[in-house]
Amino acid sequence: MAKKSIKDLELKGKKVLMRVDFNVPMKDGVITDDNRIVQALPTINYALEQGAKVILFSHLGRVKEEKDLAKNNIAPVALKLATMVNANVKFVNATRGAELEDAINEMKEGEIVMFQNTRYEDLDGKKESKNNPELGAYWASLGDVFVNDAFGTAHRAHASNQGIAAHFPNDSAAGFLLEKEIKFIGGAVDEPVRPFVAILGGAKVSDKISVIENLLDKADKVMICGAMAYTFFKAQGLNVGKSKCEPDFVDYAKGLLEKANGKIVLPVDVVSVEVSDEDCAADFFGAISKAATKVVPVDAIADGAQGLDCGPATIELFKKELAGAKTVVWNGPAGVFEVEKFAVGTKSICETLANLEGATTIIGGGDSAAAAISMGYEAKFSHISTGGGASLEYLEGKTLPGVACLSDK
Ligand code: 3PG
Repeated sequence: MAKKSIKDLELKGKKVLMRVDFNVPMKDGVITDDNRIVQALPTINYALEQGAKVILFSHLGRVKEEKDLAKNNIAPVALKLATMVNANVKFVNATRGAELEDAINEMKEGEIVMFQNTRYEDLDGKKESKNNPELGAYWASLGDVFVNDAFGTAHRAHASNQGIAAHFPNDSAAGFLLEKEIKFIGGAVDEPVRPFVAILGGAKVSDKISVIENLLDKADKVMICGAMAYTFFKAQGLNVGKSKCEPDFVDYAKGLLEKANGKIVLPVDVVSVEVSDEDCAADFFGAISKAATKVVPVDAIADGAQGLDCGPATIELFKKELAGAKTVVWNGPAGVFEVEKFAVGTKSICETLANLEGATTIIGGGDSAAAAISMGYEAKFSHISTGGGASLEYLEGKTLPGVACLSDK
């Protein structure tokens, strides 16, 4: 069932409760990547232009004990937002109470009030994360309509999304970012233009079991790369040396290979290094940066070697498999892209996808999204998801509570 869009709501003069995902990476109180704020701007600006009073809120990090409060203070995000919008942004350092209520009552059309991290409410009985009904009702009482634009949090059923929406059966709508995420990810998985190729990388098979299964069902090809490929190599009876591998999932990977009937494409060579366990334990990135690299076929990985990236033959194979694809979904890097010399596989996937003509190319969030953005490919994809866990769950075919709770059209 299609969900209401912010465009279906009357916003003029209304107090619009807008849940965004401003859970941005921070270092010492400084935002290191503002992409999630940037991606929320179209919805915020639209509401402001319509004459709404925009009440913004988001979680930031996780709050379990007192010491997590200062670390996850969302005030720097409000300050940053104020530099990105053409409107007054008033930050209220509270998640409830008179100060917040007064600030909202004093708002004029076209202004923003942003309140403190919704997870500050987790300190006392996990009220936000456990979707405490009293909290959802309280937040709902502060506004006239609800807009959810927090795709990154849509896999959570929390007070700040589901809890509030329950009080607006006809006036809970999706923001533009949420709609875009659903259109691209949902469209790719449910109604892909074929050939549909999925690329799955990253560290662990165990993290992506449901994604692999769902995509094996729906895609024409599933290319596996990153450290999780080594569990598949092991399943083929190959020696993986000291490469990352999940022994408990080798049988599972074997089963997938049998079931896949040729749909799974694995790397054929890897870039490997030999580094002592002590050096790796002391400083993994330092040790692998200094180590000499060797490209070897996957059936020739030495006992003391670990594979850290795809080799050149794999890059060519992946290019060939991707030629002509009309829909591509990618989740998870192909190697240890944080170190330049092991970023070649990930970069080559970016490059190949950037040059695929007439294809819809989607990155399903997480590390591969961060890698593509940091490598300068941001504008070259049809869509780069702002969700990590949320896009994975969506790729698994699960219903996202933060979407399901919104009003039907
Ligand atoms: C994310 O970064 O994946 C979302 O903001 C959700 O955060 P969470 O995993 O702490 O709920």
